[in-house]
Amino acid sequence: MKQLQVGLEDRAYPILIKEGLLAEIGKELKLRQIAKRYIIIADDNVAERFGGHVVESLRNADIPVDLLTFGHGEANKNMATVEKLARELARLGVDRQDGLIALGGGVSGDITGFLAAIYMRGIPFVQVPTTLLAQVDSSVGGKTGVDIPEGKNLVGCFYQPKAVFVDSTVLTELPHAELLNGLAEVVKYGVIYDADFFHFLAANQKSILALEPAVVEAVVAHCCTIKAQVVEADEREADLRRILNYGHTLGHAVEAASNFEIAHGMAVSIGMVAVNTIAVGKGLFAEEKARRVKELLQGFGLPVQVPADLDRQQMKEFLKTDKKSVAGKPFFILPLQIGKVVITDEVDEALIDAALA
Ligand code: GLY
Repeated sequence: MKQLQVGLEDRAYPILIKEGLLAEIGKELKLRQIAKRYIIIADDNVAERFGGHVVESLRNADIPVDLLTFGHGEANKNMATVEKLARELARLGVDRQDGLIALGGGVSGDITGFLAAIYMRGIPFVQVPTTLLAQVDSSVGGKTGVDIPEGKNLVGCFYQPKAVFVDSTVLTELPHAELLNGLAEVVKYGVIYDADFFHFLAANQKSILALEPAVVEAVVAHCCTIKAQVVEADEREADLRRILNYGHTLGHAVEAASNFEIAHGMAVSIGMVAVNTIAVGKGLFAEEKARRVKELLQGFGLPVQVPADLDRQQMKEFLKTDKKSVAGKPFFILPLQIGKVVITDEVDEALIDAALA
């Protein structure tokens, strides 16, 4: 078992990574004494695939447990789902000695974390991510929230879990597109923070795509280590944490302009290549390095081109209204080298046009 730590003083928590960990969650929770009983929250698909397994693991450890579900998909990441679940918790008599288990991908983690933060003004929760994207990114760092019609993640708060349990073997059950979604975030860490990791990814592309257990576990652990370091340095995204948004500003515009038909990770892949074009245009990043990033993404089978049918003008509007834009000015994370980036809002419209071409 690999054990990492997110060092946030009184809110510090472990990230445990192990093959087959899903079956041992009950034992781990018993050891850690986070809550007296647990309510697992999962979407209908994840509940069917993994819910029974986790319930059994807690029952084997003599921990009282219930399972609540919501309909799968980003469309259900909203206040109505939070209210429905909160009322179910109340009907089950859940109190402050009880805890929640966020089982699933980013949507489940965001909803459950938010619910834990506001139910009875805060109860503990743990993350059990079952997608690569959630394992390497969204389950660590305490971002929680839901969407409203005016925008994604516009309602939410920072609320850290008490532990993150990662079972890398569950990834073998993921549809390939879901794996690709996570791989874009994996490549992101190499470009923004760690050139050696970038080279490791390039050298191990086949083993990663084949989900070789030792390599996958090493990749997940490395991403979580970087995420933990960034969150420790800047929990509330005042500065350094913004680098995790590399490729995301343009990526969100691609996602939104496609009516969310292009999944988050695919859009981020396109967004990373597009901002690299801006960085090259500003003379900050060597063309040869931008080519290597593009080749790594393509090697994983990720898209690298803004689809021709997306409305460029609409994308530029989305950039202005992105929640991270200040006074209508988007900021961009631009690479200087592989492993080093700069945060800037000084990007001419002509460069944005070239990046979206
Ligand atoms: N996914 C970006 C962050 O956690 O800050």
